[in-house]
Amino acid sequence: SLPKQVKIVEVGPRDGLQNEAKLISAEDKISLIEQLANAGVSYIESGSFVSPKWVPQMATSTDVFNGINRLDGITYAALTPNMKGFESAIAVNADEVAIFGAASESFSQKNINCSIDESLERFLPVIAAAKQHGLKVRGYVSCVVGCPYEGDIAPEQVAIVAKKLFDMGCYEISLGDTIGVGTVHSVKAMLDAVSQQVPIENIAVHFHDTYGQALTNIYAALSSGVSVVDSAIAGLGGCPYAKGASGNVATEDVVYLLNGLGIKHGIDFDKLLQAGWFISDKLDKAPISKVSNAMRAK
Ligand code: HMG
Ligand code: MG
Repeated sequence: SLPKQVKIVEVGPRDGLQNEAKLISAEDKISLIEQLANAGVSYIESGSFVSPKWVPQMATSTDVFNGINRLDGITYAALTPNMKGFESAIAVNADEVAIFGAASESFSQKNINCSIDESLERFLPVIAAAKQHGLKVRGYVSCVVGCPYEGDIAPEQVAIVAKKLFDMGCYEISLGDTIGVGTVHSVKAMLDAVSQQVPIENIAVHFHDTYGQALTNIYAALSSGVSVVDSAIAGLGGCPYAKGASGNVATEDVVYLLNGLGIKHGIDFDKLLQAGWFISDKLDKAPISKVSNAMRAK
């Protein structure tokens, strides 16, 4: 059966923008985040504290966090791969942090320059420090069905990494189909394996829409009992270390799907569309969202 309510984790200001070559000013990022918050998006991944040499677009994250006029009840989260990133997140009062590992060794090396085991070791002090500061930690697993370097990834391998992150103290494990290759069958097999190790209520799905399967896979995940969905405004996104990875599933498309299913999400559709048009105009491109484009053409 389907959940009555879904939490949307908006990753547009981070995952959405990190892959964009055109640098967006901190001011425009702040405006985007404030528009999303005003639209009722309750969880916004607002930036990441990674090496600016690796991901130049995220170099403004400190200014972004410091500039947001924060609304009560909204979580403004940051990606923090190591203690240096965590300290930056604490300095700007991020509400929550996320660590990011992978189910594929090659992707781990390309993305964060270390093995899976080394990454878990680096995350331990981040989780301990977060606990001290009273911050919750979200854990990502990338390449949960396929890897740009290794091809198919075994569901059991995903389950092992997901369980490790959960046991280490992540309250939620976001399962990333980084290159969007999953279909209903592979996604369900993966969710079956992971949910034997991590309670389904602690699992989120994070689909990139490279092969146009994201909405279908989300429906499959909802049917399997998942009720947290990551998405990016205007379908922006991609990982610089996953060649060919296109945008995340568009938040507009997910909201349209949920509306059709009568599932609550708390987001004002019109305000959401406006936010998507705002950032798309700043990037000089059309939204990568059929729903958004259809609504704009009306
Ligand atoms: P490294 O080179 O192994 O780290 O990078 P290092 O500790 O040897 O440090 C090297 C340099 O980086 C030093 O500077 C450090 O100060 C600096 P230098 O002395 O050369 O001037 N540095 C930092 N600077 C700022 N913030 C930091 C930081 N740490 C070190 N936190 C590191 C390791 C992880 C930092 C690097 O590989 C990196 O930044 N990678 C970026 C990865 C990234 O952001 N990828 C995209 C996000 S993940 C994603 O999109 C997938 C996801 O959406 C889920 C999915 O779709 O599957 C989450
Ligand atoms: Mg991603």
